[in-house]
Amino acid sequence: MANVLIGCETSGTVRDAFLKRGHNAWSCDILPADTPTNRHIQDDIRNVLKMGLWDFLAVMHPPCTRLCNSGVRWLDNPPKGKTKEDMWRELDEGASLFSDVLNADVKYRCVENPIMHKHAKKRIRNFKPHSQNVQPWHFAESEDSFDNQKKATLLWLSDNLPLLKRTGSVDGTTARQDVHNASPGEDRWKIRSKFFPGMAKAMANQWGAVLEADPQLT
Ligand SMILES: C[S@@+](CC[C@H](N)C(=O)[O-])C[C@H]1O[C@@H](n2cnc3c(N)ncnc32)[C@H](O)[C@@H]1O
Repeated sequence: MANVLIGCETSGTVRDAFLKRGHNAWSCDILPADTPTNRHIQDDIRNVLKMGLWDFLAVMHPPCTRLCNSGVRWLDNPPKGKTKEDMWRELDEGASLFSDVLNADVKYRCVENPIMHKHAKKRIRNFKPHSQNVQPWHFAESEDSFDNQKKATLLWLSDNLPLLKRTGSVDGTTARQDVHNASPGEDRWKIRSKFFPGMAKAMANQWGAVLEADPQLT
């Protein structure tokens, strides 16, 4: 059983997939967990990483709001209530957090984010191109499953983690655009950032097997 940290996650989706596989999995976020659990640490991920307990795997979903290509226009045309200075400061903060998780001192690492713009890439420490671009529907077991959706999901993996293999049985032609179509409102960002159980299960099964085969795991 490996110590596994799922960073920047309130939904528990990836955490619960690793727990099901039998690992000592914890989620952490500055916000409380969406549903009651004794497996969530409410704190800044940088403090949690310093606890030094995550000797095996960390899967991390840092905020993409200021880093993602789909939001690049806001940098020069800030939304109501924000200044240009606010936007560029928030970009620096987002890039700094992404840098800290990308370079975390954990043996096996995965960082997940959407497609990024050039200003973000330039600010990230030791930036490297993503390892893999996957879609939720690659892991969908049926047409009507929650996973049968389109959302380009980029994974930055440490060199010792294999690329995720597709496990789904659909071909993408029926994949929905729920993320794109989420209606405006307070919870829109949460709906847009909720992770996908099929992809989480593939991570837990495929990377769980790698952890279990590691001779350092006793
Ligand atoms: C893109 S969302 C990821 C949501 C995740 N996919 C899920 O299913 O819960 C980014 C998350 O990062 C959290 N966050 C922002 N800054 C953080 C920090 N410094 N430490 C830990 N979590 C942070 C936010 O509260 C938010 O829940």
